[in-house]
Formats: sequence, structure tokens, C-alpha cells
Amino acid sequence: MRVTVFGTGYVGLVQGTILAEVGHQVVCMDVDAEKIEALKQGIIPIYEPGLESLVKENTATGRLSFTTDAALAVAHGDIQFIAVGTPPDEDGSADLQYVLKVAETIAEHMEAHRILVDKSTVPVGTADRVRARVAEVLERRGRTELTFDVVSNPEFLKEGSAVADCQKPDRIIIGTADEHSVEVMRELYAPFGRQHEKIIVMDVKSAELTKYAANCMLATKISFMNEMANLAERLGADIEAVRQGIGSDPRIGYHFIYPGVGYGGSCFPKDVQALIHTADSIGFDSKVLKAVEARNAEQKTTLFAKICEHFGGELAGKTLALWGLSFKPNTDDMREAPSRVLMEALWAAGARVQAFDPEAMEETQRLYGDRDELALCGTKEAALKGADALVIVTEWQSFRAPDFDLIYKQLSQPTVFDGRNMYEPARMAKKGFTYYSVGRLP
Ligand code: UGA
Repeated sequence: MRVTVFGTGYVGLVQGTILAEVGHQVVCMDVDAEKIEALKQGIIPIYEPGLESLVKENTATGRLSFTTDAALAVAHGDIQFIAVGTPPDEDGSADLQYVLKVAETIAEHMEAHRILVDKSTVPVGTADRVRARVAEVLERRGRTELTFDVVSNPEFLKEGSAVADCQKPDRIIIGTADEHSVEVMRELYAPFGRQHEKIIVMDVKSAELTKYAANCMLATKISFMNEMANLAERLGADIEAVRQGIGSDPRIGYHFIYPGVGYGGSCFPKDVQALIHTADSIGFDSKVLKAVEARNAEQKTTLFAKICEHFGGELAGKTLALWGLSFKPNTDDMREAPSRVLMEALWAAGARVQAFDPEAMEETQRLYGDRDELALCGTKEAALKGADALVIVTEWQSFRAPDFDLIYKQLSQPTVFDGRNMYEPARMAKKGFTYYSVGRLP
């Protein structure tokens, strides 16, 4: 099948590449000429395991190509994916200007029936707005005989495992009332074989809400567990035992109940805020979501509070080794990362940071530039040199079994603030560390 994907960000690039990989003819279109030029040469703008080789292979076979030519892009695909960004506006609502611009572009150039597919996370009602925008342009062109449909097909991939998530989706949501579109979308996703029965067809607004409901439910689980961890800390209970105790109930499950330093990334914070905004805009007070957001904002400050208390409020002149900058492992993404809230609070209090991350060093450099209060270190060991204590913000695999003797020797005070519960408190105590966890018994 012939598919066009507008937007070569995370979602567009991964989806386009995987559709090419299963045999479709895919054209990825972006207005960013530099990015397209780089992609043509196999240079991937993001760090995503497995993606680069897939892009190269599929470009070589000719199934995947990149263009900035809108007319060519619209002429190519019977299916036109809209996978451009929906950044939050200042008030937290999703900014739809890029989505609507793509709708206009498609309407400007289309010469035959087109199925527009919303892949970006967009508020309920967006498909209707896309439909109206296309109709407006066709009217202006005097081409109202041209037919089209707008389908909602939200993406559920996770950064760091985007390729696998896309190849083996838990479900494929198709939101449309048009039977022809359903048939075409079923055919498009048929190569995913076993996953075929995972297609769930529904009306377009329900599909749009499904995406938000999924992310908000997951964010709720995390904020709930963070609240329990904070309570456990104060009550003298161990959140790790509690986690296992509740996770064993299949109605609760073990996934997404790890307490930590709050959720970050480009999805949860933005989507929770956007749904709160949608609810507010129709006069509905979404009490649960507001609490989820408030708990998360506070959770991002808990490591700093512990550090502050440990040093008796005297952070001026202190140096903290910091392991983990990205918002989660296997990505270089620093958007809404808890590490940023922590570093900025430490600097404001007069402390220095010696940081290491396996992937996010360049991104940190780009965000903060050269400054006296931040040293970017080449290894996790180098970050320890001369530091007063170690802080762990992201649970990278390579931090799981460090050389504890070396840590002990390097730190001026053998103290570890662990925002991800990476180590056993009893073991840490035995090794002579002062160990701060999230809700675990000392
Ligand atoms: C999330 C969803 O998991 C995807 O299903 C969805 O498609 C995606 O958003 C999106 O809307 O595009 P992502 O933001 O890549 O994916 O990252 P997650 O792996 O979900 O992690 C989000 C945050 O939650 C991270 O900061 C992580 O540290 C935190 N988290 C996760 C916890 O604090 N505890 C947990 O138990 C799980």
C-alpha cells in the first residue's frame, strides 16, 4: 500500500519505518529540509534502539523515502498519516496549529480520495476540526467533489522501545464511522499478523479519548505509588514489600507501580495537563487528574528536600555526583526530566553538580551550556571524584551493580540518595553507606 507520513519526529519516523519494513511503500514528509537531508543519508535525529539500521535498510530497498515536497507527498499515499507535534500551549492545552497546517496542505494538493489519519495525540474533537479544515480548502479550490475521511489511530509507543512497541502493538485503535476506511486500515495493519485481532474499531471521539485515558491512567498509577511511598517513609513501612503485596492482585498488576522521582518525558506531563484543560474548558472539574499532576510536581522536589535535610540546609560549596539525566533509561530525552528540577534547585542553593548519563550528555550540554556549577563527566566513576554524595535520578541498567567500594572511597561522605530504589537498603548499610531511598525501610 502507498502511505504518506507527515512529520518525522518520534512517532512519524518510527511508524513510517515499520510500515515500510512490513512491505508498504512509505514517503515521510517534513518541512525541516535539514532533517530530511540527514535522514536521506541515514542520520537519525533521535536516539532510539534499532531504528537507525531499519531506516537505512528500508531506504536502501526504496520502500522508505524522505521528501520536503508536499505535492509529491500528497500524491503518493492513499493513506496520509498526520504525525506532527502537538506542543502544549502556555495554558496546558495542545497546540493544534501543525496538525491543522498538514490538513490544509493535504487539502491543497489532493486530486483523489484521501484517508487522513491522526496519529499525533490530539484532543477529543480534533478529527472534526481536521475534517472542517479540509472541507474549507476544497471549497476554496472549487473541488468539493473530492472525497476524504479522517480517522483517529493513536500511537502507544514508548521511547526506548518504540520499534518493538510498533512491531508488536498491544492494540490498534481505529476511530471512524466509515466502512471503507476501516477496511483500508485493516489491510494496512494486516502484516502485523497475530496482532490483527488486536484491532479495535470505534467512533472517532472515543479513539481520541482512549489515547488520553491510557496515559492518564498510567500517570495515575505512578502518582498513587509515589504517594504511598511518601506515606510509607513517614509510617515506617517498606514500599517495596507493599508494591509486591499489591501487584500480586491481577486487578492491580505489577506494571507501572514503581515509585520514584516523578514521571517526565514528552507524553505523561503534557497529556495529563491537556486533558485537565479539555475538562476545564467544558466546565468539568477533573479532580483526580489535578491531584495526579500536583503529586508529580511535588515528587520531583523530594530528592532535593532529602539532600537539603541531610546537609542541614547548607548546600553552598557542596558537590553532588549525579547519575542519570534522561527522564528514563534508554533515551537521551530530557523533556520534563526530574534531573532538571533537581539540578536547578541544587544550583540555586549554591551546590555544584558532576553529572553522567549514558546517552543524554549532549542534550544536557545543549540545554545548560558551559557553566561553573555543572561538570559533565565521561564516566559514572569520573562523576564521583571529589563529590560529597551520590544522587541517582535515572535507573540505567549500567548503574545497577556499580563498584560500591570505589563509590565509598571517592565520596567525602559515603552517602547515596537513590531516587529509583536501585539497591537493597540493608546491603548499603552493611557497606557503611548512609542510604536514602524512596519509601523503603532503612
Ligand atoms: C508513555 C506511555 O508509556 C506510552 O504507552 C505512550 O505511547 C507514550 O507515553 C506516548 O504517549 O507517546 P514514555 O513517555 O515514552 O511512554 O515513557 P514511559 O516508559 O511510559 O515512562 C514515563 C515516565 O514514568 C518516566 O519518567 C518513568 O520514569 C515514569 N515511571 C514509569 C515511574 O516513575 N514508575 C513506573 O512504575 C513507571
